[in-house]
Order: sequence, then structure tokens, then C-alpha cells
Amino acid sequence: MCGIVGYVGHSADRGNAGHSALDVVLEGLRRLEYRGYDSAGVAVVSEGSIEFRKKSGKLSNLLAELEEHPLPVTTTGIGHTRWATHGGPTDQNAHPHLADGGKLALIHNGIIENFAELKLDLVAKGYTFESETDTEVAAVLLGDIFRTKLGGDVSDGGLTKAMQLTCQSLEGAFTLLAVHADQPGVVVAARRNSPLVVGLGEGENFLGSDVSGFIDYTRRAVELGQDQIVTITADSVEITDFFGAPAEGKEYHVDWDPESATKGGFSSFMEKEIHDQPDAVRQTLLGRSDLNGNLTLDELRIDPEELKKVNKIIVLACGTAAYAGTVAKYAIENWCRIPTEVELAHEFRYRDPILDDNTLVVSISQSGETMDTLMAVRYAREQGAKTISICNTNGSTIPRESDAVLYTHAGPEIAVASTKAFLAQITAAYLLGLYLAQLRGNIFSGQIKDVLADLGKIPAKIQTILDGAGPLRELARSMANEQSILFLGRHVGYPVALEGALKLKEIAYIHAEGFAAGELKHGPIALIDEGKPVFVVVPSPRGRDSLHAKVVSNIQEVRARGARTLVIAEEGDEAVKAYAEHVFYVPETPTLLMPLLTTVPLQIFAAELAAAKGYDVDQPRNLAKSVTVE
Ligand code: F6R
Repeated sequence: MCGIVGYVGHSADRGNAGHSALDVVLEGLRRLEYRGYDSAGVAVVSEGSIEFRKKSGKLSNLLAELEEHPLPVTTTGIGHTRWATHGGPTDQNAHPHLADGGKLALIHNGIIENFAELKLDLVAKGYTFESETDTEVAAVLLGDIFRTKLGGDVSDGGLTKAMQLTCQSLEGAFTLLAVHADQPGVVVAARRNSPLVVGLGEGENFLGSDVSGFIDYTRRAVELGQDQIVTITADSVEITDFFGAPAEGKEYHVDWDPESATKGGFSSFMEKEIHDQPDAVRQTLLGRSDLNGNLTLDELRIDPEELKKVNKIIVLACGTAAYAGTVAKYAIENWCRIPTEVELAHEFRYRDPILDDNTLVVSISQSGETMDTLMAVRYAREQGAKTISICNTNGSTIPRESDAVLYTHAGPEIAVASTKAFLAQITAAYLLGLYLAQLRGNIFSGQIKDVLADLGKIPAKIQTILDGAGPLRELARSMANEQSILFLGRHVGYPVALEGALKLKEIAYIHAEGFAAGELKHGPIALIDEGKPVFVVVPSPRGRDSLHAKVVSNIQEVRARGARTLVIAEEGDEAVKAYAEHVFYVPETPTLLMPLLTTVPLQIFAAELAAAKGYDVDQPRNLAKSVTVE
């Protein structure tokens, strides 16, 4: 939520890169815009003053403003793209916020929880405010400390000291970046419970909410710890805690290239990411089995003896990631025979959950920064549970605060609606389930090899679905005026139905709901009327018990009440044709792995329908990619 960029370089006459701060910051904002697009703003330090521009709406509005009112070429700048929390998306509430008589500019991601009381104090001192934001309160407080407590003295790192003192008074979650006209060539940043990464260059340094903020310039990144302050100049990076004690960051190499964060010829990032899915699954499997097809998860640095003692698993996540967790539950319970609960992270810690040191908490998060999930993981650790994170973002907070991490290798996911991360999360969760089953001896090694072999065939099967999606796309375009679409599934098809509905809601703004098919007759069937479109995810007829027959009965029940049935079924399931207006087949695969295939048509359907309605598929209204506030 909110994208943040900072840059300090040397001027071109110093003979090095000599980038314009504004160019670097705008390029970073372009890449970070998926984090929030309610407004955008930049500030540069120019010859003893701060110059800034800010504009409500998407980054393009700011760019238009900059065309009309350009900013000077300088070496120091900060930029922000906002997802509104305190105060609506207006020009006034956009960041940066200025203080210290216009000499200080500050941008912020997060929520400052005690802003109201701080504001009262500042108002009592005579300060006035131009916006409704908590950010302006932090800016004014920083300016006040810099000017009145430190006398505006910049000789000994004035802005850094002021930031330390400011952070000591702030509660909540925040990443702050500040520049001051009296201290050109310096950006000072702070973080608590909110993401911030440093990028290391030659004669230039960068700050970003994530590495995409500076990926065009460097792949050397430094992750910061909790409650740390970093001061960057063109030639130095200094890290301290909030009390000035020196601290170390951890350097790492960013292993994706800027090209992987472009649309690559597709009409949207979401389309591209849907097409990236064979590779996302392939990469997530890569290197996790040996030449003999045995599972190897050495990277999971957690004592196997401890894992053997686990008697309960709790999967914590939000949104799409929680649906990946629900798919995982079916597989983990089946393979490991360990009771597994899936819980929305934001509900978890408020219900006094029962967990102890034999509980394994598995968090799932694409960004690794979702505040709800982070807080739930922290709570679980405090209660003594072991924590493993399944995450797509190297160096992010949730894996750093977990006992172990299993990275998904989906590559950067830019579209707000998650697609390839979902399939990668499911894949990683399967690997974890198999690993636990192997450790505990619940499953024969031959069985594990079989599942791994089946997983290895998934990328090609996804490709087949992508290649044959023409009729599905046509159907989606023809349904652009629908008001409501329902999704039904059973067993692993149930979370797929939930995910199909979520995709449609979030990017096509259509009422969509997913149900467990068996739940229909307990209420939701009342929603069915003449012509109501209902997607049904049908399990394999080769599958267990009478699951297939049960779902076919459910199809008949809704058809009998006038529904149009749109069916996702397994190739060869001829029987289902008789009950479907349209059938979309996916290749044969074992039941537990089916979600890796059945989800794909629903993603394509949502993306195509949203595009047909003329919506911005990548940046749906009211949403942001990385939800770093509770
Ligand atoms: C929906 C979507 C969200 C995220 C959720 C968790 O398409 O993307 O529901 O899945 O906000 O985000 P992460 O995985 O970053 O923790």
C-alpha cells in the first residue's frame, strides 16, 4: 500500500551516472504504482529549497502536471504513490507534505495511530494543517523537532537525529522518507511494520517500498530490520535504530530482471501474469527434488525433529492467499494426517486461538508485507508456535520474522489481482505438505515421487488451457452486462469457486459469490432465477467416492430453477455435457492437484470480461497490491 521512492546521486559533472533525481523517482513510481493509485507526488531538493508537485488520481495526472510545471534537474528526490487511508484522494492530501516553513518534505506509507493526540499538541504549539492526513502530522512533528529541539543544526546529521526523535513518538505502522532543503544530497528514511528496501548503486543510492522502485538501476538491495532509520547520500548508506545505535542491513541480490516486470506485449499485466503461470509453477518446483525424484527442501531451515512433533497446522493468510491455503488444507490433511485449519489472518489473533509449541503456523503471502498476516504471525510466535512462511518476495518482512521460509518463484506480480502467485502458493504448499508427510513417514517415497511427477506435468497442462481459451474469452465478452454470477465447487473445487468469484468482483465489479456446492440447498439456491449464470467446478469422474455425482446433482438443481450452467470439467467427462450450456475442459490430473488447472479458466474469464467492460484490469478501483495497513 502506497509506493515510496527515494534517490540521491551526484550531478552529471562529477563524471558518473548523474541521473536526474526526478527521472529516477518517476520511473520508480511507474513501477510501484500498483501499490496505490489514488494520488502521486514528488519533491526534489534544489539550491536551498524544496520544489514539489502532487496531484490526485493516477500517476499520469502528476506527469501531466509536471509537463505543465516542470521541476529542475537535481540530485536528490523522493516520490510517492498513494492508497488513501486518512483523508480522501485529493491534491491536498497527496504526499509529499511540507513542514519547517516549506524546507522539509515528507512522504509516508502506513498509519500513524496516535496522530490525533500528536496533532493536538502541535496545534497547541501554534501549527496549522493543510490536509486531513496523519502524514502531515509526522511532517510537522519532524520539522518541529528539527527546528526547535535541534536548532536546525545540520552539522551533525540533523535530519537523521530529528527522524530518530520523531519515530520515538510515533505509534502504528510507517515508512517515512524525508528531505530537507538545508541538507541537500541526503534522504532520511525510517521503517516500522511497513516495507522499505535500500538499493545500492555506484555514486548513487536508492530507497523503495520494494525493489521494483529501483530495479532499472541496480540489483543490489539491502533489507532493513524493524524500527530502523537509514540515511542515504550518493556515496553512503548508514543505518541506525530509533535511538541512534548503529545497525546492519542484510544485502542481497535481486534475481529478477526489469523485463519480467513489463507487460511483454500483453494488453495488461494480469494477462501477462496469467500466461506466466506455467513458468511460475515450474520455477517453484525447480531444485526441490533430486535426480531420483525425491523431495529435497533443505532450504527449510527448521529442525526436522521439531516438525515431526507438530500435531496441528494453522494456515494464515488473506484473500487469494487464504484460498491457496484452503486448497493446501485438503492436500496436507490427506498426505500428513495432521489436523489443518485455515484462518483469515485478521480474524485469527482476535479470537484467543489455541496454539502451542507443537502447532505449526504456515503463513501464505505474495508480498510478504500484508499487515494482517504479519501481525498474526507475530502473535503465533509469541504463543510459541513454529512459523513457516510461503512467500513470493525475497527480503520481505513476513519471511524475515518467521522461523523458516519456502519461497514461491512466480517472479514479480504487478497486477493487483493475484494470479500466478496463487498457483505458485498452492504449488509450494503441496511441497510443504509432501515434505511433512515424508518426515513423519505418512506416505511412501514412491507416492511422493508420483505426486512430484504429476506436479511436473502441470505447467504443460496450464499451457494447453491457455492455448485453448478462445471460446471462454468469447463467452466472457458476451457476458459483460451480467449483474451477478455465482460459482460452485466441492472439495478442492470449493476454494477455486471462491477464487473465481473474487477475481470477478475485484476487477469487473460484478456481484459474484462462491459457494460450496453442498451448501446451495441451505440458502444460496434462493438466488437462482431465470438466466442466472452459474460456474460449476466439477471434480473428476475418476475421483473419490461420489463427489462427481454429487456436483452433477447440484448442477441439475440450479438448472431446474433456470440457471445457465457454465462448467469447468476434466477432459473426457462426457456425462457433464448434458447439463451444461458451456463446458470448458481442463486436462486430466489427480484430484488434489486439480486447482492448479481449474482456476485458470476462471482467471481468464474475469480478465476478459473486465477488459470488455473497459476497466483497468491491473489497477481496479479502491484496491492496492500490498495491504500494509490493518
Ligand atoms: C486478490 C488479491 C488479494 C491478496 C491478499 C493477500 O486478487 O491479490 O486478496 O491475495 O491481499 O496479499 P498477500 O498475498 O500479498 O499477503
